[in-house]
Amino acid sequence: LSGKKVLITLGGTREAIDPVRFISNHSSGKMGMALAHASIQAGAKTTLIVGSISIGLEKRAEIIEVISAEEMYQAVMKRIESQDLFISCAAVADFRPKKVSKNKIKKNNQSMSIELIENRDILASVCQLNKKPICIGFAAETENFIENAKIKLKQKRCDAILLNDISNTEIGLNSDENELHLITKNNSYKIKQNTKQIVAEKIINKLADYFFTSS
Ligand code: CTP
Repeated sequence: LSGKKVLITLGGTREAIDPVRFISNHSSGKMGMALAHASIQAGAKTTLIVGSISIGLEKRAEIIEVISAEEMYQAVMKRIESQDLFISCAAVADFRPKKVSKNKIKKNNQSMSIELIENRDILASVCQLNKKPICIGFAAETENFIENAKIKLKQKRCDAILLNDISNTEIGLNSDENELHLITKNNSYKIKQNTKQIVAEKIINKLADYFFTSS
């Protein structure tokens, strides 16, 4: 990937409820950071849009830290035009509270509900741009894996989907190992269970061969 520019989103987003509370998820950022190492090793100028993570930052990359899905959307859109490859690894919250309370919410009532509204889909928005990079999404599935991933590939109009089987607790979210399928329109490749770093190197090699090597 020498001379190429790669943008990776990673980590979870935090959607504020009030000044001290938020909705988020268990994403550690490990898979995205492993992809960042592999992308840099492959020679790409690598930019990371980083949500909430529980690991150290890759210092050789350009880093933009964000909190919410909306901030992540803005940070991606500002930089996407000059990129060759976009890997959407972040666990973006699909919804956010409709109202963010300015003051800390008091427990006055015995029950309460929070109305949620949908966040913009960053990956799908990038895939709709006229001048877009090669776009790779992730899909976390617990059933009908390949079929669901193919539906997502088509719906979001991306170039490939990296499919995670999240029913297997040994791999994926928050763990140190992963096993993935790289699904393109016409092909499917299994990347066998290994450390996230080895899996990331295999993904980056495969993407470089598949999308950037003319033969
Ligand atoms: N994604 C995104 N912006 C969102 C939501 C998701 O960019 N607002 C990206 C993620 O980074 C990931 C892919 O879209 O690459 C996952 O898509 P999503 O539709 O959220 O799928 P899952 O979480 O796999 O499944 P579900 O459809 O059940 O939500």
